[in-house]
Amino acid sequence: MSDLPGFSDYFDLTGKVALVTGGSRGLGLHIATALLRGGAKTVFITARKEPGVNQAVAQLNALPGINGRAIGIAGNVAQTEDIQALVDQVKQIERKLDILVANAGATWGGPFETSPDWASQKVVDLNVRGVFNLVRLFTPLLQTAGSPSSPSRVVIISSVAGSSVPHVGDHGTIMYSVSKAAATHLARNLAVELGPKNITANSLSPGFFPSKLASGLIEILGGEEQLKKSNPRQRLGVPDDIGAAVLFLVGPGGNYVNGVDLTVDGGSRLARGRL
Ligand SMILES: NC(=O)c1ccc[n+]([C@@H]2O[C@H](COP(=O)([O-])OP(=O)(O)OC[C@H]3O[C@@H](n4cnc5c(N)ncnc54)[C@H](OP(=O)(O)O)[C@@H]3O)[C@@H](O)[C@H]2O)c1
Repeated sequence: MSDLPGFSDYFDLTGKVALVTGGSRGLGLHIATALLRGGAKTVFITARKEPGVNQAVAQLNALPGINGRAIGIAGNVAQTEDIQALVDQVKQIERKLDILVANAGATWGGPFETSPDWASQKVVDLNVRGVFNLVRLFTPLLQTAGSPSSPSRVVIISSVAGSSVPHVGDHGTIMYSVSKAAATHLARNLAVELGPKNITANSLSPGFFPSKLASGLIEILGGEEQLKKSNPRQRLGVPDDIGAAVLFLVGPGGNYVNGVDLTVDGGSRLARGRL
């Protein structure tokens, strides 16, 4: 017989404090929803636009059956001073942080030769440098939360674009793709840096999930129906796909998973031939 003493609690987040950047819509809102429904005590969400943050907080706090609460803090996580202000505000409410989800991201598409420098800077500042500083400045609070048997968690939302060359040409997204490769590798570096401090770090790489960020590219590539046909699972991602994957990485059951990239794309990155 095999004894699995933790079995009933693999995904139980009771008492956990979490923060999700870009939590006002899209994948970040799905993730914040999953954390609250998983039992988290406090879920901070942040994004630049205050009305969007307030609206998401109202939606989250109206979720049926939750015991925790969502708290919104507006800020730009591409800017180090805003990240520091975020840390300071979180500290006034909670003394620890168990789960940090670096989800906010930006993309830019256009032809290679005429790419404006500001576009590369915007993408790298948010998707790479901002994530580095976010984790760095939250490390003391993450360390307070973590213990050898229950490490705190960092999850970086990367992309399948970080392990393939998805789009070149007129609508090329070269710097986005490069920034996501860096984000995935940042998680691996953090896994080794922070593991001894009782903090794990992993990345999660989604394929296409309809959202404000993805919708323009989805249309350029022929629309949702076209993309569904080229996916081995014959569909795009849905909110439950991302919620379940995050719960696996941040729940008690995932506590020995460190430095992996979990791809959630229905297998689309592998499908080079026509189905
Ligand atoms: N959707 C997909 O198909 C897909 C696929 C692969 C990877 N991803 C990744 O998943 C993550 C979320 O994407 P999404 O599709 O959910 O995008 P989205 O719907 O556009 O949401 C982006 C969120 O990030 C916030 N945000 C943007 N810039 C910010 C900044 N500088 N500081 C703080 N918050 C900021 C936005 O709010 P404000 O505008 O108010 O700041 C919003 O809450 C990104 O990292 C993206 O690269 C998405």
